[in-house]
Amino acid sequence: MGEPELESEQIRLKCIRKEGFFTVPPEHRLGRCRSVKEFEKLNRIGEGTYGIVYRARDTQTDEVVALKKVRMDKEKDGIPISSLREITLLLRLRHPNIVELKEVVVGNHLESIFLVMGYCEQDLASLLENMPTPFSEAQVKCITLQVLRGLQYLHKNFVIHRDLKVSNLLMTDKGCVKTADFGLARAYGVPVKPMTPKVVTLWYRAPELLLGTLTQTTSIDMWAVGCILAELLAHKPLLPGSSEIHQTDLIVQLLGTPSENIWPGFSKLPLAGQYTLRRQPYNNLKHKFPWLSEAGLRLLNFLFMATAGDCLESSYFKEKPLPCEPELMPTFPHHRNKRATPATTATATATEGPSKRARP
Ligand SMILES: Nc1ncnc2c1ncn2[C@@H]1O[C@H](COP(=O)(O)OP(=O)(O)OP(=O)(O)O)[C@@H](O)[C@H]1O
Ligand SMILES: [Mg+2]
Repeated sequence: MGEPELESEQIRLKCIRKEGFFTVPPEHRLGRCRSVKEFEKLNRIGEGTYGIVYRARDTQTDEVVALKKVRMDKEKDGIPISSLREITLLLRLRHPNIVELKEVVVGNHLESIFLVMGYCEQDLASLLENMPTPFSEAQVKCITLQVLRGLQYLHKNFVIHRDLKVSNLLMTDKGCVKTADFGLARAYGVPVKPMTPKVVTLWYRAPELLLGTLTQTTSIDMWAVGCILAELLAHKPLLPGSSEIHQTDLIVQLLGTPSENIWPGFSKLPLAGQYTLRRQPYNNLKHKFPWLSEAGLRLLNFLFMATAGDCLESSYFKEKPLPCEPELMPTFPHHRNKRATPATTATATATEGPSKRARP
């Protein structure tokens, strides 16, 4: 990967058990990881908050893969926690609708680490941007079913993704949709422990997060899927808020003012008393999607509160138009590399803004 030859440079590490340092023998310098030199870099496909992503060829197997370089520049204490989480979670997750982490490879420097992932031809954000016409309803159903299957698997394995959005959904040229970017994902246990509240890119952020909940559940991912389903159907973001207050207001305008009646526990959320929410008694989803069937509207409403398993059973997926086969998904291989990839992930530490993705 064009890194300078530094084989002669000695690696000295601090001992954990006793005082002082030790030198890593040359034959152990890469540990059990392969070297990134075994990959031929083809082109850069994306740059996100946590790393640069390349398309590359594994010279041993000839397979085309995605190489995500772990970004270290701001880190003083080794691998960033987001990358450690991504690696440990992804290594134990295997599902057709979850991006596959094949292995971790290393460069010559201690701080150059790459995730080798199954290559997907496009992400849904660039696809949406480059499509001249919206997805058909059959295609939307095909995508949503795949997202829900991946999510059902994650949730069954006690993982919350916490950053679902169209740019983190990848698609292969066979129309297989895979959830990617586990930089903010967390394993959770029962009882649920408090987690950092500032997760999920603003537009996809659930109201309980906006109102300061300390206990995050799988429903924050379901909320994001609801926003994604609506975005795919309408070919534009559902709730493109520009600040947390604006985001909360957009939700209230769409779904009505929350109350203890329709949302038990609402008034106990830390920020519930701090916002003066507009009075809006109606659910406006029907006005926003006048052409959508009853089952479609029910599913959209349901996503904002149900589990992935329940949503998979929705009659929306069983009525016409039926979900299409993945092979019937559109592909735009030539657009992929022209797109300026947005770096939009809400980080646990920085104050994040809305997605900078160009609006359709
Ligand atoms: N396996 C893959 N195959 C093809 N492209 C990929 C793959 N993984 C990531 N990409 C591309 O790189 C972009 C950034 O990757 P990813 O979302 O994993 O990184 P990130 O640093 O967390 O990004 P962000 O902050 O933008 O969410 C994706 O939106 C996608 O376009
Ligand atoms: Mg991402």
